[in-house]
Amino acid sequence: MSKNILNLQYSGANSLLQFINLALKDKIIEKKDLNSLLEIGPGDFPVLSKFKETFNLKHNCSFIDKRKLKNKDFDFICNDFLTYKFSKIFDLILDGHVLHTLKDKEEYTTYLKRVYNLLNKNGYFILETMVLHENMSFDDHELYFDYDKGLLFKNSKQIRVIFSVNEIESLLNQIGFKIIYLYLPKGFKMIPFDGRDNALPRDPDLLRVICQKVI
Ligand SMILES: C[S@@+](CC[C@H](N)C(=O)[O-])C[C@H]1O[C@@H](n2cnc3c(N)ncnc32)[C@H](O)[C@@H]1O
Repeated sequence: MSKNILNLQYSGANSLLQFINLALKDKIIEKKDLNSLLEIGPGDFPVLSKFKETFNLKHNCSFIDKRKLKNKDFDFICNDFLTYKFSKIFDLILDGHVLHTLKDKEEYTTYLKRVYNLLNKNGYFILETMVLHENMSFDDHELYFDYDKGLLFKNSKQIRVIFSVNEIESLLNQIGFKIIYLYLPKGFKMIPFDGRDNALPRDPDLLRVICQKVI
């Protein structure tokens, strides 16, 4: 690790936006090299659009989502991230809650390799995703978790891929990323399916990672 991350007090960041701001402030992410940004699956509230002033962005920040979204200031690409032919590569790619919505381990790995290949040298990948922990359980009747494959099913339909921190860390390392920050903010839980409002202690944990493509 290039920085002593244990000295950094990130556990208090209660949103992805705040987390990225802290990482910029502490120079975990070097702001000067960031010109082209991509957010995958931003939903209705693209986090990177909040950095318009920080990076003086105008038509230089792309968002890709399967749903149609409109915004006059930024490029929205309504397509599949796994297959879309990009005309440029990026200095920073953000994934807020997309990775765990994929189909299986193969797609998960393909997706992470794609992120790696779409980054410039020294480009950053910021990931916020759900992870397995030993006290996780799915007591809701319609849920079933396949521990061998890391797949969560609801009413027999696969809805999430959930791996442990160690599995994700080793996958990122295998792909070639240098992990510069990896942290499970204490007590942060992710509701694993639509339809429940409050997170429970047995729900998956939330993992935040910043990695870099160094070669
Ligand atoms: C759980 S939502 C997260 C939305 C938002 N980032 C948030 O945190 O609220 C996942 C989003 O990823 C998008 N998505 C999933 N797979 C995708 C893919 N292969 N290509 C593009 N978008 C994808 C979905 O359309 C959806 O909007």
